[in-house]
Amino acid sequence: MSEEFGASPHLVCNHLIHICHSFRLPDPNIVTPPRLPETPLYPRLRTNTPVPTMTYPGFPFPPGTPLFPSHQHILAYHRRYASRFNLYPHIRFNHRVLKAHWVGTSTHGQWNITLRNDQNTLETRLFDHLVIASGNNHIPRIPTFPGQDVWLSNTPSNSPPREILHSIYYRYPDRYANRSVLVVGGGASGRDATSQIFPLAKKVCQFGIYSKLIKRPPFP
Ligand SMILES: Cc1cc2nc3c(=O)[nH]c(=O)nc-3n(C[C@H](O)[C@H](O)[C@H](O)COP(=O)(O)OP(=O)(O)OC[C@H]3O[C@@H](n4cnc5c(N)ncnc54)[C@H](O)[C@@H]3O)c2cc1C
Ligand SMILES: NC(=O)c1ccc[n+]([C@@H]2O[C@H](COP(=O)([O-])OP(=O)(O)OC[C@H]3O[C@@H](n4cnc5c(N)ncnc54)[C@H](OP(=O)(O)O)[C@@H]3O)[C@@H](O)[C@H]2O)c1
Repeated sequence: MSEEFGASPHLVCNHLIHICHSFRLPDPNIVTPPRLPETPLYPRLRTNTPVPTMTYPGFPFPPGTPLFPSHQHILAYHRRYASRFNLYPHIRFNHRVLKAHWVGTSTHGQWNITLRNDQNTLETRLFDHLVIASGNNHIPRIPTFPGQDVWLSNTPSNSPPREILHSIYYRYPDRYANRSVLVVGGGASGRDATSQIFPLAKKVCQFGIYSKLIKRPPFP
């Protein structure tokens, strides 16, 4: 577990402690990147959910917190929450769960968990219950498209190198000043990148699929 954006791990931990226009690009090949950034968060990121929806019961954000705060506010809030409810002794940062297997019968037994810390030391521990909350925003789906290598290696002279970047690596809009940018994806990442890049870029075009927002009549 790492100390990041999500609210749910702290909430589960606390709970356990107390009771215990539509366009689709051709189907891409997906590659797993060799090196992931430590975080998908970028400096100008603010929440897209308002403070009241992110407030734990009985633990308000400090007065003056913006309605859609920066991720630094969220981190500070979670740190205060963890201290207030004495959660730190129950959290192991920088430990990766390598294996989990059930040891016992169908009615009695324990989970045998293998952990590795940041010093590469392995440890095995037993637990009665296992909650898996390993997230889904850490491994990006990076498509590759036919012809992209030729396009990438043929930057016109006197131009900055052409590039294709997944939003998990996006950090600053300044990088796109005076450039033509195509943003693929109409989710929050695509929308936020587009709105940040738009004032600086020569041209921004965004493709998105809004299938989840379009209510189709039942078939037939
Ligand atoms: C750029 C960005 C902005 C966002 N903005 C908002 C927002 O404004 N409002 C909002 O409500 N949501 C926002 N979200 C979504 C929110 O962050 C996720 O919905 C939320 O974090 C999901 O929580 P989770 O606990 O399921 O997973 P995660 O937060 O992904 O947590 C999973 C944790 O499990 C750890 N882990 C994974 N595998 C292992 C393993 N084998 N062993 C040990 N630990 C492991 C990971 O390191 C990670 O710390 C944003 C997401 C991103 C990427
Ligand atoms: N606070 C913020 O401002 C902020 C910023 C960034 C991210 N987030 C959060 O982070 C999480 C992930 O967001 P995300 O935007 O990165 O991912 P996402 O929500 O999964 O959106 C990805 C988008 O790409 C589209 N897409 C996928 N394949 C495509 C293709 N081949 N051609 C065209 N479009 C394609 C998807 O369309 P379909 O869904 O139709 O397949 C979808 O609209 C969300 O919880 C989001 O709220 C928040």
